[in-house]
Amino acid sequence: MTTLSSGSSLLITDVTNIRKDFPILSRTIHDKPLVYLDNAASSQKPVQVLDSMDHYYRHTHANVHRGVHTLSQEATELFEASRRRIADFIGAPNEAEVIFTRGATESINLVAYTFGLSQLMEGDEIMLSEMEHHSNIVPWQIVCAMKKANIKVIPILDDGTLDMEWFERNLNAKTKLVAVTHVSNALGTINPVEEIIRLAHQQGIPVMLDGAQATPHMSINVKKLDVDFYAFSSHKMYGPTGMGVLYGKSSWLNLLPPWQGGGEMIAEVKWSGTTYNKLPFKYEAGTPDIAGAIGLAAACEYINQFDRDGMLQYEQALLTACTKAMESIPGVRTVGTAPHKASVYSFIIDGLHPYDIGTLLDQQGIAVRTGHHCTQPLMERFCIPGTVRASFAIYNTMEEIEKLVQATRKAIQILT
Ligand code: ALA
Repeated sequence: MTTLSSGSSLLITDVTNIRKDFPILSRTIHDKPLVYLDNAASSQKPVQVLDSMDHYYRHTHANVHRGVHTLSQEATELFEASRRRIADFIGAPNEAEVIFTRGATESINLVAYTFGLSQLMEGDEIMLSEMEHHSNIVPWQIVCAMKKANIKVIPILDDGTLDMEWFERNLNAKTKLVAVTHVSNALGTINPVEEIIRLAHQQGIPVMLDGAQATPHMSINVKKLDVDFYAFSSHKMYGPTGMGVLYGKSSWLNLLPPWQGGGEMIAEVKWSGTTYNKLPFKYEAGTPDIAGAIGLAAACEYINQFDRDGMLQYEQALLTACTKAMESIPGVRTVGTAPHKASVYSFIIDGLHPYDIGTLLDQQGIAVRTGHHCTQPLMERFCIPGTVRASFAIYNTMEEIEKLVQATRKAIQILT
């Protein structure tokens, strides 16, 4: 197990040791060692995360914020300490601004239904981008239809970067929110979010970022970003599934109405009317995913033990090596060639369907994602049905990239 002496950061020099933290990586698939390159869909979990949740259920489980008994108090303390750790991880000024959700999708829905329903008027505009995940399109379509508001779409250029000139030109008094992804799940593009926030704020427009693909790879500081809302999932950053976070500035979260009703979000219920709890509980109806929060906090600690710049550089080195090697294969075309990318490599092969490639890679023990990656409008923009996507995490190796390259060559031979 990777261990850390206090005050130091682990350098990414010994991936063999890091891999030992992830039991699933020793599995075989079709009698071949697993090569897991589907991290943008969901990363694997280190023993530190598994143990934290196991320990909680074995020794400390009870409902939170509800009991005078010792176990409930211990569980509450663990749960709230997890919130503080997660707030620290994203640089949130106040842990009450960290709302637990089921994932980035639910976080975005929370903003859509609270902000959208209370702030939008007929004719208002929400600005999204052409590279959004369906999770950051459909909630806005639903809410905009209810409020007779419109969605405007920031186009992207051929390399997969946002058309920032268009963005600046089209921000106007009708724009009520800019909601864009920090990192594209399908292309890997890292968007210029500081510039987006600066331009939007110049006109008094709030910004929500979908950080699902950013938090596993880069240090996030919501205070420095000055972002109004930041949504992310636990399961893509080595934490458990079914857990996510919405960071929101308290000025917004205090102003907006509650979303779901019941449980912890209540101060007092009377037939004549109900008053709501303070932040963050106002947005946490029902018994929360206590173990999920504990697991996510353990994932934050796991990531924090590494030198974060080194972690990013290592993943960038994997991406660079993969891009170069894959582009040397005749017929392979990279989809998404932005200068700033996270460790996501999407490609297509002339005349071959991504699904067939993915199936043949799986036969060789290699897990990639194929298809439209829940970004159908983006695929339409590139006039393709989908891509094959290899996405890397801290435990991937150069040898695995080589295996992907060889396996892709073999798949092409079989299919042509
Ligand atoms: N959004 C996840 C992906 O990109 C599921 O695969």
